[in-house]
Amino acid sequence: MRVFGISDLHVDYPENYNWVKSLSREDFRDDVLVLAGDISDRVPFFKKTLSLLAGKFRKVAFIPGNHDIWVNRNGISDSVKKFRIIEKIARDCNAELSPFSLNGVNFWPVHGWYDSSFGSPGKELSGIWKDYTNCRWPMGFSLSDINSFFHEKNCFQGIDAESGFNITFSHFLPRIDLMPHFIPESKRILYPVLGSSLIESVLRRLKSKIHLYGHSHVNRSVRKEGVEYINNAFGYPHEYHITAKTLKKIFEI
Ligand SMILES: [Fe+2]
Repeated sequence: MRVFGISDLHVDYPENYNWVKSLSREDFRDDVLVLAGDISDRVPFFKKTLSLLAGKFRKVAFIPGNHDIWVNRNGISDSVKKFRIIEKIARDCNAELSPFSLNGVNFWPVHGWYDSSFGSPGKELSGIWKDYTNCRWPMGFSLSDINSFFHEKNCFQGIDAESGFNITFSHFLPRIDLMPHFIPESKRILYPVLGSSLIESVLRRLKSKIHLYGHSHVNRSVRKEGVEYINNAFGYPHEYHITAKTLKKIFEI
């Protein structure tokens, strides 16, 4: 069994969707795909992509990203409702949203959002970051409520992290030092919305050996304190310099 990882398919771009379509229907029948969020904010695109992938792999382990719960062009009142709709679609497609074990490997989705652990958003970020307008939250929801909504989903039961090999995955970054030194200062204004150290505490609790994350679109593989952190975002079509645009095998047993 091989385990492949990818994120940020953004299939609204036809070339990205064509790549998904081009994946073999035969080659991955014994394999798991870990898909770390940001398929599309548009429900029909989301559905057809997840359904297509679930038909090609033995199992697809999925966690939603911020784009998946945008509501601005869906007629859905808020992102909590959108999250539930996404969950139902994933279940109907036979994608796995809960932790599961296969051949001695435990797969753990780690839910989360960004908070202030990587810094506070400046004025410029507040004006350009699309989640602030494209996600909507129930009346009175604060950033802390958003984080609680996701982290409550990390109370796992039924699988023992003490036995087996643990692979965790999140859409957001668990630590900001995963961003490489070459990132220009002008792009670093985005750091406050990249992730949360709460995600790091969950994956450490789960004794993770490999953690796949998305969102930054900066492909890399870095070892820190016994955990291999991997980003294999497919990314936007113009992001050839920071993305490999191919499946990455992250584990094999
Ligand atoms: Fe994202």
